[in-house]
Amino acid sequence: MNDELEVTIEKTVFEGRALARHGRYVIFVDGALPGERVRVALTGRKRRYAFARVLELLEASPHRCDPGCGVFGTCGGCSLLNMDYATQLEQKRGFLLEALHAWPEVTAQVAAVLGMDDPYFFRNKMVYSFGGPVDAPVLGMHRRGDFYSCVSAVECRLQSPQAQEIVRRLLEFARTRGLPPFDERRKVGLVRDLTVREGKRTGQRMVMLTATAAHPAFAELPAVLGELATTVLLGISPPLHNAARLERVEVLSGPGLIEEQLNGLTFEVGPTTFFQTNTLQAERMFALLAQWADEIQPRVVLDLYAGTGPIAFHLARAGRRVIAVETHPASVEAARRNQQRNNLPEIEWLAADVEKAPDAVFASAPDLVVLDPPRSGLLPQAAAKIVAAGAPHLFYVSCNPATLARDLPLFLNAGYVVTRLQPMDMFPHSYHVEALLQLRRMPPP
Ligand SMILES: C[S@@+](CC[C@H](N)C(=O)[O-])C[C@H]1O[C@@H](n2cnc3c(N)ncnc32)[C@H](O)[C@@H]1O
Repeated sequence: MNDELEVTIEKTVFEGRALARHGRYVIFVDGALPGERVRVALTGRKRRYAFARVLELLEASPHRCDPGCGVFGTCGGCSLLNMDYATQLEQKRGFLLEALHAWPEVTAQVAAVLGMDDPYFFRNKMVYSFGGPVDAPVLGMHRRGDFYSCVSAVECRLQSPQAQEIVRRLLEFARTRGLPPFDERRKVGLVRDLTVREGKRTGQRMVMLTATAAHPAFAELPAVLGELATTVLLGISPPLHNAARLERVEVLSGPGLIEEQLNGLTFEVGPTTFFQTNTLQAERMFALLAQWADEIQPRVVLDLYAGTGPIAFHLARAGRRVIAVETHPASVEAARRNQQRNNLPEIEWLAADVEKAPDAVFASAPDLVVLDPPRSGLLPQAAAKIVAAGAPHLFYVSCNPATLARDLPLFLNAGYVVTRLQPMDMFPHSYHVEALLQLRRMPPP
C-alpha cells in the first residue's frame, strides 16, 4: 500500500478519529469528517490498521465548520471543533450505539444526546501546562499525541474571557520574572501548571499555580491577578512527582476554596476535589436523575462514587435516606461541609472504596443504587457487591462507553434490564459522551 492514498470517511469513532477503509485495512484519519473524500498520508502503520493525516480535502462535508481556533488540530483538547454541533451530537450517539451493539435491547433505548444551547465557554475548570523556554514560555494544553510539549491556550473557546485573561497574566508573570517552565522529560524547571476553577453560578474564581518549589516571586500573584481571582493558591509538586500529586498547598490569598451552585444547592470546590466540569449540563443531569427518582419514590438510596455529594443532595432533598460512598477523603470532608451549607437531612457518608466498603452498606436494603464510577469503570468486586445489594432500581452514570460496554453485562446477566438510556454532552467539541442509564431488576422467571 502506498504512503499516500485517497479514502472516503465512514464515521467518527470514539477518541474523535475519522475512520476510513482501504480494502480490509482500517485507517484512522485526524481532522476529517464523515462522508468526506480526502487524500491522506500515512503517519503510522500496524498490521490491520494505520494512522493518517489529511493532505488534501477533495470533497468537504456540509457539516464541516470553521473551528475558530488557531491551535485546533495540534492542541490535545478539542477533537471535533471543525464539525457542526448537531453532527457532533449524532456522532456521539453513534459511539454509544457502537460500544453497546452486542445488546440490541439496550441500543433500542439510546435517546438523542442532550446537548447545550450554547456549547462554548462552558468549562468551570481547566488545567494548563507550562512549556517552552524561559524567555518565551507557553501556557496551554499538551500537544496532540505528545505529552512532552504544549500548545498555547491563551485564546480558548472553552474557557470564559476572565479565565483567558488569567492565562495571559500568568504567562506574562512567568516571562517577566524569569521563572523557568518545568521540562517533563528532563525533570528540571520551576512552574508546572496553572489550574483555574470558576463558579459559573457564583462568579467566584480559584487560581492555583503548581510549581516544583517555592519562589519569592509567587507572593506577588494575588496582586498580579487582582479582582480576577477570589482565591489564589500555590501547589508544590516536586520534580519527580506526577504533577497531579501535590506535596502541599499554600493559600496565598482568599479562603482557599470557592463555591458553586447546582440547581440551588451550594457546593464548595477545593483545589483537588472532583466537581463536574460543565455546570449547566451537570444541573440538567442531576435534575433528570432527581426526576427519575421521583417516579420510583425510593426510601433508601445508595450513592456510590459520590464525589462531593451532588447526586446525594439532589435525592436527599426529597426527604430520602441516602448512604454515600466516596474514596477521596478530601471530597468526603467537603461533602459533609456541603451538607451543612445546604441544611439537608442526614446523609451517611463513608470514605471508602466501593469494592472494599463493608457489607453492611450493601445490606441496607436500598430501593435504588446510583453509581457514577470514574472513566476506568467498575472493579468486578464492586459490581458483585452492587448486584448482591439486590436493589430493584439502578441509575448508572457512565462517562466512558468502552468501560460501560465492559461492565454493563455484569448487571444484565444478574437480571437487570435497561429501561432508559439518556446520553448527555458534558464536553462539547471533545469525543467524550456521558450516558445516564436506568435499570430495573426483573423477577426471576
Ligand atoms: C465521575 S466522579 C463522580 C462524582 C459525583 N457523583 C459527581 O457527579 O460529582 C467519580 C468519583 O468516584 C470516586 N472514586 C474513584 N474510584 C473509587 C472507588 N473505587 N470507590 C469509591 N469512589 C471512587 C472519585 O474520587 C470521584 O469522586
